[in-house]
Amino acid sequence: MCDVTRDTPVRKLRFSTLRALSDLLDPQHTWRSVATDISGASGEARYSQQHIRRFEAVVLQGKSPTMEMLFDWGTTDCTVGDLVEILLRHQLLAAVSVLLPDHSSCHASAGSSGASGSTLQYEAAARPSEACPEISRPAVMEPDSTGPEENTWSGTEAGFYTFTHRELTVMTGGWDDRPVKDGGCLLGTGGFGVVFRGSMGGTEVAVKKLNPMDDSSLEDLRTQFNQEIQTLRSLKHENLVSMVGFSSDGEHLCLVYEFMPGGSLLERLACADGASALSWLSRCCISAGAARGLQYLHQNNHIHRDVKSGNILLDEDLVPKISDFGLTRASASHTCSTVMTGRIVGTTAYMAPEALRGEITPKSDVFSFGVVLLEILSGLPPVDESRDPKLLMEMKDEIEDEELSLEDFVDGKMQGWQMEEVERMYDVASQCLCEKKNKRPTITENIPLIRSQAKLTFFSTSICSLFSTISSRGFLQLE
Ligand SMILES: Nc1ncnc2c1ncn2[C@@H]1O[C@H](COP(=O)(O)OP(=O)(O)OP(=O)(O)O)[C@@H](O)[C@H]1O
Ligand SMILES: [Mg+2]
Repeated sequence: MCDVTRDTPVRKLRFSTLRALSDLLDPQHTWRSVATDISGASGEARYSQQHIRRFEAVVLQGKSPTMEMLFDWGTTDCTVGDLVEILLRHQLLAAVSVLLPDHSSCHASAGSSGASGSTLQYEAAARPSEACPEISRPAVMEPDSTGPEENTWSGTEAGFYTFTHRELTVMTGGWDDRPVKDGGCLLGTGGFGVVFRGSMGGTEVAVKKLNPMDDSSLEDLRTQFNQEIQTLRSLKHENLVSMVGFSSDGEHLCLVYEFMPGGSLLERLACADGASALSWLSRCCISAGAARGLQYLHQNNHIHRDVKSGNILLDEDLVPKISDFGLTRASASHTCSTVMTGRIVGTTAYMAPEALRGEITPKSDVFSFGVVLLEILSGLPPVDESRDPKLLMEMKDEIEDEELSLEDFVDGKMQGWQMEEVERMYDVASQCLCEKKNKRPTITENIPLIRSQAKLTFFSTSICSLFSTISSRGFLQLE
């Protein structure tokens, strides 16, 4: 149980209370009138229009501007009493009663900041249907109490919540490891941990619980954990997965991400759980989106080092988002730079020859992307012990030696493809898979080819469906 009084610091409010406030203040931008009424240390308005626009922008990431504002303001010493006074000035009585349900007494004391309200029970403040008593308010990572300077703001804009292990336990139904299709929360298991579906005040998230595996030490795991947070704090793009927050207080390190209902590209190409096969058009759009995500990483001097279809996640509209930045390295300022490492990491079935020797270069990501393109074209897994050759990348040699035709290589489950379009995509894959890294294109050079392919396919698909609609309605008589 949690007691809220006028003296309670805003930063100590529970997450479910903040959620209830957001439900009232997010609609019709009501939070803006509160934000513009908040004063800084010397009495001036704390938030400029620019700050307000930044809060507004978090809506695009599926977040609440009210929460962002309160997380930021909460980095100062402001109290529930300060917030209640502003709410009362704007006649936002429902919001007041979320904080202090006995608001008639609050109302009487409006304007007199000294009066300390009676002790109130948290359960009474949260709406019963959403009350989640175990969950206390996640704090924003980092921002100090210096006010809305640029660096404080960028910390807030990164918007990572720090969860307690206990909160994540509640969000994931006690780490329910039954698969989601059987009513549990298990989304999948990877090389570094287990991923659960969680509910964060009604919003779905994916919670990755990192586990030290056979060959990785706890120290390696923490390095990857920090690397992932650092990368996703600084890099944001529609083709990179977004992080919601993390927890590091319990026995496990956990990372919390936006939930991607389409699962991974690897699973989708395998039509896991009875999903339908992806059409050629969808595959072209996924290739183009993934290439854009990778281009953004490279342009920002980052090398992913584990590009694979399992690390390309799909949202409900099949928009691809690159995930898993734990192995990512910031390269020197120039994207063509190469560094050597004694520690070779990545997934062998996707690794370029130089990556296997310990070189770190963006061209190795391009090579791995070439393997992903082969998967997209063929629907085949990157490695199959019962196949000859076992590695998908080796099938390129078979195609080039004319032992295997491209037609036979193409996924038999795929609809809507044309040979010349498939040939163009294969050509891009083949260039990415060049043994010599200097002969491979950069990801930026690949993008126009892949994008124009996606556009061409889009137009030809649209025209085909238009013709079939016309002919099925009897407008077009074909002899
Ligand atoms: N944000 C997410 N939303 C929905 N499902 C996810 C999300 N992140 C991961 N998953 C699911 O969890 C599975 C495991 O992911 P994880 O990243 O742990 O392993 P992996 O990518 O298969 O291997 P690796 O550990 O080498 O990256 C994915 O294949 C995917 O099905
Ligand atoms: Mg992964």
